[in-house]
Amino acid sequence: MATKLITGSRVVAITGAARGIGLATAKAVYATGAKVAIADIDEAGAKAAAASLGDRAFGTFVDVTDFDSFAAFIAATEDALGPVDVLDNNAGIMPIGPFLEETPETAERQLTINVLGVLNGMKAVLPGMLARGRGHIFNTASAAGKTPVPGGLTYAATKAAIVSATETARVEYRNRGIHFTCVMPSFTNTDLIAGTNGTRFFKNAEPEDVAAAIVDAIENPRPDIYVPGTLKGMFTAQKFVGRGVRDALNRAIKADRTFLEIDRTARAGYENRIAAPEPAKELAAAPSDDAVVPAADPAREPASARD
Ligand SMILES: NC(=O)c1ccc[n+]([C@@H]2O[C@H](COP(=O)([O-])OP(=O)(O)OC[C@H]3O[C@@H](n4cnc5c(N)ncnc54)[C@H](O)[C@@H]3O)[C@@H](O)[C@H]2O)c1
Repeated sequence: MATKLITGSRVVAITGAARGIGLATAKAVYATGAKVAIADIDEAGAKAAAASLGDRAFGTFVDVTDFDSFAAFIAATEDALGPVDVLDNNAGIMPIGPFLEETPETAERQLTINVLGVLNGMKAVLPGMLARGRGHIFNTASAAGKTPVPGGLTYAATKAAIVSATETARVEYRNRGIHFTCVMPSFTNTDLIAGTNGTRFFKNAEPEDVAAAIVDAIENPRPDIYVPGTLKGMFTAQKFVGRGVRDALNRAIKADRTFLEIDRTARAGYENRIAAPEPAKELAAAPSDDAVVPAADPAREPASARD
């Protein structure tokens, strides 16, 4: 059995925590008495979030697609707060629309952030966790990793990869004191789903619902988190009813149209943000003298500056 982590003495590092589910998780974890490292490609947002929480929070830059940046984030967290007990690989993007309208660059961007980013995170923390014989890694997939999502083909593929990677890591590192949890939310009210209508009959979740489930799983480790919890039963039932019934049910709740019938105007702000050419790196190239992050914080240094 893996060792249980103790509330209050933990250091929890969260990527993509300047906003949305990551920020809600940072707040919920902080409220348990833990120390929290909030990292994001939006460096200013990460620092502001940490400053709003208090002195057990640390805000810094990370570009999860760059292993050196991830390793620097973990090193900076360990300097500021101590060894990382929990890593929440939360950062992700969701460009949506018809598959054939997606550019190769957009597909690659999703694969590098949503998949490579998570693999980088596991590689950055696992050596330390294995040496200490304890740790917990949360990898954020999605309900889209378990069921077809027309209009989100590449996104669903990236999330299915995370379901598989998390399960494989759990088996590869069994009996080493490390917990792995795959986080699978359905539609959750953040910028990521701006301009979509959700599904018929099902209420969207709130970021706080996902955060509460993660806090609970830190205390009571388990391999999977579904939000809402009823998704687990639905996905189990899917295996028995067969594809035809599953697809008909998805049509009945309009899950087959929700990422195709999009309000592009309402979504423009989100799409622009995720397509932006990494503004935080530009910030990092010309560091401010913000007091929240020490001047020597290596996580702020873009990989290119260290080569
Ligand atoms: N909102 C939903 O309906 C929903 C459902 C299922 C899964 N998810 C997943 O939950 C996670 C969080 O999503 P959210 O809804 O809070 O989205 P969000 O857009 O509100 O937050 C995502 C954060 O990730 C950051 N980020 C993007 N690229 C990054 C990079 N290269 N390095 C570091 N940070 C980066 C963004 O700056 C942003 O702050 C994502 O992995 C998403 O796929 C969301």
